[in-house]
Amino acid sequence: MTVADLPKIELHLHHEGAAPPAFIRQLAHEKRVDLSRIFKSDGSYDFRNFAHFLSVYEAACEVLKSPEDFRRLTLAILEESAANGVVYSETFLSPDFCGGGDLLAWKDYLTAIQDAADEAERKFGITLRGVVTCVRHFGPEQAKRSAHCAAETAGEWITGFGMGGNEAVGAQGDFKWAFECAREAGLRLTTHAGEFGGPESVRDAVRDLGVERVGHGVRAIEDPDLVHELVDRGITLEVCPGSNVVLGLFPDFAAHPIAKLRDAGVKVTVSTDDPPFFHTTMRREYEMLGAAFGWQVEDFAALNETALNAAFCDEETRARVKKRLETS
Ligand code: HPA
Ligand code: ZN
Repeated sequence: MTVADLPKIELHLHHEGAAPPAFIRQLAHEKRVDLSRIFKSDGSYDFRNFAHFLSVYEAACEVLKSPEDFRRLTLAILEESAANGVVYSETFLSPDFCGGGDLLAWKDYLTAIQDAADEAERKFGITLRGVVTCVRHFGPEQAKRSAHCAAETAGEWITGFGMGGNEAVGAQGDFKWAFECAREAGLRLTTHAGEFGGPESVRDAVRDLGVERVGHGVRAIEDPDLVHELVDRGITLEVCPGSNVVLGLFPDFAAHPIAKLRDAGVKVTVSTDDPPFFHTTMRREYEMLGAAFGWQVEDFAALNETALNAAFCDEETRARVKKRLETS
């Protein structure tokens, strides 16, 4: 078996960010919305940098406007993930893009997404769980609405709460209320940090918000004391190497700090972030990491075990997915 054929666990995937460009173009066509500005002539998404990426992302969301759109999207992305060997996935779902923070609307979107997830589990053998995310550049007040939606729908399927968006806006601590609300509802916590923010943003995430996972977190490598702190606290990083390379954090996979972080004892996992935007898949991430660091089947099996242990699902689901990893 090659490393790319291994069964995989993915913990960091933005639901809308996984939409294939052809899927968004089709919805735009059906709804007669002109989105030609966000595509290159070869049909791929067109963006220059991270801030521009976020605005292209939000433009694509303009045609994802009903529970039915999200049902179709969910089926499409899970079929693609399963084709790449993913057996368990957690996706980031934002009430902001699913009803604008209105609880009743959010519940309708969630019902459609869960229906599609059930269908995908039957058809493709992939298990999905949802992590509700607030969007940092929409501000703390909107984040409270998202946290409220998350708390009201917390359970077997919505298992976590987190934050994405532009790290240059505000501070992690500004979102404390939202994270506490989610924690009190029994949700597990993660936040984006240490991607465009430096190591201090990772420290803030861990200390001010009390998260157990960090989205990216890779710039922790710039601060050895912080690396030790991550090891001591048992924090898991949701590392997305291909995303980091495309967005210019590191010139190529060989220069990416994932191997150094792993070798220092940090719990690292591998995900794609927004795969069609970053021209990647889970298969490709494994192939590129194998080529850059010589990682073998055992290395990736260990990575998946770390991911499974850090997954925000209940223990029955974890045991079931563990069997899938062992028997695939
Ligand atoms: N990073 C931060 N925020 C996001 C992303 C991302 O890759 N995708 C959607 N929101
Ligand atoms: Zn992300």
